Amino acid sequence: MPLNIIVGVQWGDEGKGRIVDYLAAGADYAARYNGGDNAGHTVTVGSKIFKLHLVPSGIVHPHTIGVLGNGMVVNPHTLLAEMSGLRGAGVSIAPQRLHISPAAHLITPAHRALDKAQERSLGKGLLGTTGRGIGPAYTDKAARRGLRMADLLAPDFRDRLRDHLLAANRILNLLGAPGLEVDSEIETYLNQTSRLALYIHDVSGELHLAMQQGQIILAEGAQGTLLDIDHGTYPFVTSSTTLAPAALTGLGLGMAAAREASVLGVTKAFQTRVGSGPFPTEVQGEMAERLRGTGANPWDEFGTTTGRPRRVGWLDGVLLRYAVRVNGLTELVITKLDILSGIPKLQLCTGYTVNSTLIRDLPGGADGLSACTPVYEELPGWTEDVTHVRKWKNLPKNAQKYLEKISSLAETPIKLVSLGPEREQILEV
Ligand code: GDP
Ligand code: IMO
Ligand code: MG
Repeated sequence: MPLNIIVGVQWGDEGKGRIVDYLAAGADYAARYNGGDNAGHTVTVGSKIFKLHLVPSGIVHPHTIGVLGNGMVVNPHTLLAEMSGLRGAGVSIAPQRLHISPAAHLITPAHRALDKAQERSLGKGLLGTTGRGIGPAYTDKAARRGLRMADLLAPDFRDRLRDHLLAANRILNLLGAPGLEVDSEIETYLNQTSRLALYIHDVSGELHLAMQQGQIILAEGAQGTLLDIDHGTYPFVTSSTTLAPAALTGLGLGMAAAREASVLGVTKAFQTRVGSGPFPTEVQGEMAERLRGTGANPWDEFGTTTGRPRRVGWLDGVLLRYAVRVNGLTELVITKLDILSGIPKLQLCTGYTVNSTLIRDLPGGADGLSACTPVYEELPGWTEDVTHVRKWKNLPKNAQKYLEKISSLAETPIKLVSLGPEREQILEV
């Protein structure tokens, strides 16, 4: 398909970056359409591990063009650091192959300071944000006072930046947080943003043309379905639309593009979450340590962006079915199947009980989750190491059955199964 939308099915960190990197071998563009540097997408190629926060994961292949869409919020400081880190690792980053929408919004030091101050003011009820200024930047966007990439080129940008920083200082003062040094922040910020001007590009027009010419676009979602501002576990969500349809609005592609789209939902073979909020299938104790890992391996469950230990649990089939519906998934991608090797009995959540009534779907969206008790089906595990398996027929029978059960619960076929973080540790079903 010309347009392939890769979207997280859970609470983020499903392995989207790893899958985009795998698919990018056969793609022309990799384009981020939402979020900012709250995302942390890991790509492993041999001994090199890339942790990408803003640049799309497809960029590691030399032939792809990376796009930052209008739906994103971009921190120039993080972006420049990432660009230079990539160059240092031998990845070419130049205006010819990294294009930023003029309508993408800018994250400033004020947004980051406000994010942290607002979290502190919430005390124990904090959201557990990444502290990257995401909420405040999207707040400014919705309030129609945000600064955008296109504004970098405007003669009054310095004045608008000053007004923005002064306004933020007034709020920081109300929250009892220290203000920003306005003059020095302005000089640093202008210095950074001036280095990005060459990367501004009409990405909507470019992607439209690319689709007409039959080129292949990967739209790389950030965060996951259950962190979506509308359809996630509100208020414990991020501030953008994370769902697959946002790929159209967040890149400036029209509805016609949807007719030529596949929508790949990436889910771990179990469930994780970082930050606060409901998590019906969460486990504690020994099994949690087993699923999370100790932190000794790069793929253990500790946040790519913040390093926080992730909460872990059994795969939730109710939330998976919900994700299929709200995204319009056409296929599933299962990651981290290898982590389940050696667990004698696997639990798969196939329904919930709410007030003694059994449900298989979420009638009221993700809102009432904390009142739901999971109902599990127990499946036998497998002992074999699967990290070298590349064909379905070579998977242990119980692993096949586990995957078939997931696919039948989701009523969606599985396209890919990932068995390790490395580019080639994957099987096509
Ligand atoms: P993303 O935010 O969805 O791109 O996911 P992250 O990169 O934040 O987290 C996924 C982690 O799991 C990374 O460390 C990946 O390298 C790793 N990973 C991805 N797929 C697999 C897999 O199939 N097996 C193992 N062991 N690790 C994987
Ligand atoms: P990727 O793209 C996992 C979570 C934060 C917090 C909530 C709000 O790597 O999957 P925010 O900083 O966005 O205002 O935080 O959302 N969160 C993520 N969790 N993966 C992510 O991105 C996330 N981006 C935000 O932990 O609970
Ligand atoms: Mg991540």
